Amino acid sequence: MTVPDQYAVFGDPIKHSKSPRIHKIFAEQTGQVLEYKAQEVPAKQFSEAVAVFFANGGKGLNCTIPLKELAWAYADVKTERAGMAKAVNTLALQPEGSLLGDNTDGIGLVTDLISNHGVTLVGSSVLILGAGGASRGIIAPLLEKSVQTLVIANRTIDKAINLAAEFQHQGAITGCGFNDLKGQQFDLIINATSTSLTGQLPPLPEALLSKNGVCYDLAYSNEPTVFVKWGEDNLALKSLDGLGMLVEQAAEAFFIWRGIRPKTRPVIELLNAERKL
Ligand code: ATR
Repeated sequence: MTVPDQYAVFGDPIKHSKSPRIHKIFAEQTGQVLEYKAQEVPAKQFSEAVAVFFANGGKGLNCTIPLKELAWAYADVKTERAGMAKAVNTLALQPEGSLLGDNTDGIGLVTDLISNHGVTLVGSSVLILGAGGASRGIIAPLLEKSVQTLVIANRTIDKAINLAAEFQHQGAITGCGFNDLKGQQFDLIINATSTSLTGQLPPLPEALLSKNGVCYDLAYSNEPTVFVKWGEDNLALKSLDGLGMLVEQAAEAFFIWRGIRPKTRPVIELLNAERKL
């Protein structure tokens, strides 16, 4: 009997990860024979766990919080987008034995916005809240879609200014603090802070969202996040969370590993229906 190709997601915590489920559906849908497991891996055991996984025949790995920066450092070769993000969420074993590191988070977000929600990014004004790892991963893919302006606002202002400076050659991007947002309006506001996880919200001025503007929380949860509620209260045309991005980044990883693109719509619909139960 042939052993199915082995894939996994490493993270800490990992118990509630939806990735094994998503990749199982992708595999069934595309007729690919593979296994995908979730494994709790604390940061200090990362290198050893990755080495063991690939030594035992592993073909590809997803890495999530808090391992993306470690995966970036571990990869033998990196795609340009992973290089800019300084974070890797997908490792793929190459035919000659090296490990390729990629980051599919940003493209996952952009695909969800454009293909699943019909959001126009070209010529739009975009605000990213937060200047940590999650923000870094989505900046280049957004700039590539020719947004008109991209503002990064952060509690620690220097971090926003420094992050914006790193991407300056790629488009119109600036960094500032939350107070500096007064009087400005944006077509799309993305919450990339970790505040949703703690049920908090960054301090946001009135009238920050344009008429028919869209809000997007990179986090997702069965109940609307505080930021999704903020979007609804501020009459967003759509106030979305990151479930679609999760499925789209998984589809991109699946494509890297298997060379075949699964259909994402039915998976998003299924996961959405389940959380409304
Ligand atoms: P991640 O990898 O998820 O981005 P991170 O690198 O620790 O995690 O970044 C967390 C982000 O959430 C930062 O932008 C952080 O702001 P600071 O840089 O000022 O720390 C932001 N954040 C966390 N808690 C916050 C809060 N209560 N209010 C506003 N921003 C917050």
